[in-house]
This record gives sequence, C-alpha cells and structure tokens, in this order.
Amino acid sequence: MKNADFLTGITTSGTPHLGNYVGAIRPAVESSKNPDLTSYYFLADYHSLIKNHDPRLRKQSALEIAAAWIALGLDYDNCVFYRQSDIPEIPELTWILTSLTAKGLMNRAHAYKASVADNEQTQQKDPDKGITMGLFSYPVLMAADILMFNARKVPVGRDQVQHLEMTRDIAARFNHIYKKLFILPKVVVDETSCVLSGLDGRKMSKSYNNFIPLFDTQKRFRKLIMKIKTNSLGPDEPKDTENCTLFSIYKAFATQSETDIMARRFKEGIAWGTMKQELFEHINELLKAPRTEYDKLIKNPGDIDEILRKGALKAREFSVPFLDKIRKTIGIQSLG
Ligand code: TRP
Repeated sequence: MKNADFLTGITTSGTPHLGNYVGAIRPAVESSKNPDLTSYYFLADYHSLIKNHDPRLRKQSALEIAAAWIALGLDYDNCVFYRQSDIPEIPELTWILTSLTAKGLMNRAHAYKASVADNEQTQQKDPDKGITMGLFSYPVLMAADILMFNARKVPVGRDQVQHLEMTRDIAARFNHIYKKLFILPKVVVDETSCVLSGLDGRKMSKSYNNFIPLFDTQKRFRKLIMKIKTNSLGPDEPKDTENCTLFSIYKAFATQSETDIMARRFKEGIAWGTMKQELFEHINELLKAPRTEYDKLIKNPGDIDEILRKGALKAREFSVPFLDKIRKTIGIQSLG
C-alpha cells in the first residue's frame, strides 16, 4: 500500500446529517473514486472517547457513520476505509510522539484553552476542572493518525487547522531529533465546499442541535424541513436568496440551472410553504436510493465490519512496516 495522498478522520459521535454530507462526505466520495489518488478515510473512534462516555452511543454512531459513507457511494475498494481502533500502530505511535511533544505546545490548543477559559469564567478553583488528559493530548493522537500514513494532504474544517500546524511541528521535531522519516502534511481547507445552515439559520451542527439527519424516515425528514426558520414575508412577495437557509440548502443539492431557476422564482415571489415542500421533494428524491442502501446496511452490520476489516488490512500494509522502521530509528528493536 502507498502512503496517503489524502487522509481524513471522522469522529464517531452523533448521527450523520445534511451538513456532514455537503461539507465532508460528498467531497470524500468524489476523491475516493479517483484511480490516481490514494485516499485514506477512517472512523476516529478513539477520538470519540474524549467527548462521549456512553459505549452504546459510540457503537451506534460508528455504525451509522460507516453505513452513511458506504450508502452515499464511497468507493471503498479504491480507497482505504478503516476504523482507527483496528490499527494498533496508531496508539503506539501516539506514545512515541507524546514523548517528544512540548507540553507548552499543547497548552496553546484552542479546545483546551476554551475549556480553561470556561472554568475561569465560572470562577472554578481549579482552571483544569473536568479536563481530561485525553482532551489535553488530543492533538497528539491526531498527529499520529496522520503521520502513521505519511499523509501529504489533510482535508479538514477550519476548526482543525491548528491541529495540522501542531502535527507539522511534532513531525519536524521527530525528524530533527531522530531521522527524517515524516512528511510534513499540508492542510486543505476547501473554500468551495459548502457550510450548510441548520434549522435556526446558524451553521448546521451537532453541538447546536439544529441538524437534519441524512437518513431519517421520510415523515420526520419532511417535518424537520417544515421547521426551518423563515421570515414573515407573504406568499406573493419577492424574497431574497441571500442569507436564506432554505435557498442555501437547496443550492447545496441542486445543479447550477436548477439553482438559477429557483433564484428567479424567489424574485417573483414563492410562498415559503411551497419552497419547503419543493426542498423536501428535491432532497428526498436524491436520498431515496442511498436511504434504501443505508437501511440494508444498518440491518447487516456484519457487512460493514467486513468492509472495515478489509480496509484495516490495507492500511496496515503501510503502518506495520512503517512503525517497524520508526521503532528501529528510535532504538526500540531486537538486542542482537
Ligand atoms: N479531529 C477531527 C475532527 O474533529 C477528526 C480527526 C481525527 C481527523 N483524526 C484526524 C481529521 C486526522 C483529519 C486527520 O473533525
């Protein structure tokens, strides 16, 4: 197996939603089909340990996320699709990297600083109250995910850019102390991939609880679309497409000409009720076939396991010999 041209991880917390689809799944599915690229996509289940302590939820989320990626067309034969916890070399590399990562670097991580700031604001005696070592060293685990496969490019959301800078820092330190084994990965923040708005108009996100799940029953799906916030303009009044949640969601799922036609109808005046119904019908039609596939997969989790197991075998064709090289480089090797 070749090292990764592209690599990205998906934390297994929560149910996949429309925002995940347009932001992460759709672009990944596209590049998974490219025969000239080696793409690695994995379920970051060790990362999910930090936020969630419910074993059933973790398992359910891994199942749903894997099923969603497969149902939406991931070419798992052409790319490398696996579960982080199936690659024992990753936690081993994590420790090796932890041993040379400056604590000061981790002190500067946004997620950690935000938790400390929360504690200070609520006047806790201990600024580290409730903060686990997992949260604190999270960026090292992420660095190990990336460096284990010497990934060249890492597509992520804006909030992850700092983690990539830290990964480069850690890789450079290893290269400097021992030997130049690691490529310094480049972050790719796709400006063209859309950030979808949620029910309340803010970014669609699990943390705002304003998301629309990708694979719900048609009835619940329709109900959620009907709930999207609009203004109070009357049915015949012209409407603005800018800052309109309904329009932006439509656009994310429509072709250019469909979008142009819809923009014209906004100008002419389209009733919010009509728009919602059309939005529902449009996305529902696109998700019909994947939904059937998704339901089938969820009922046969053994099939998903099999796909992930094969993916882990491919990933380990790279990680096992590479970790062996790393071990030799740092002097953890046979004594003979
Ligand atoms: N931390 C990332 C997120 O929350 C997920 C992730 C874990 C990741 N390991 C990774 C992304 C490695 C890219 C590369 O979105």
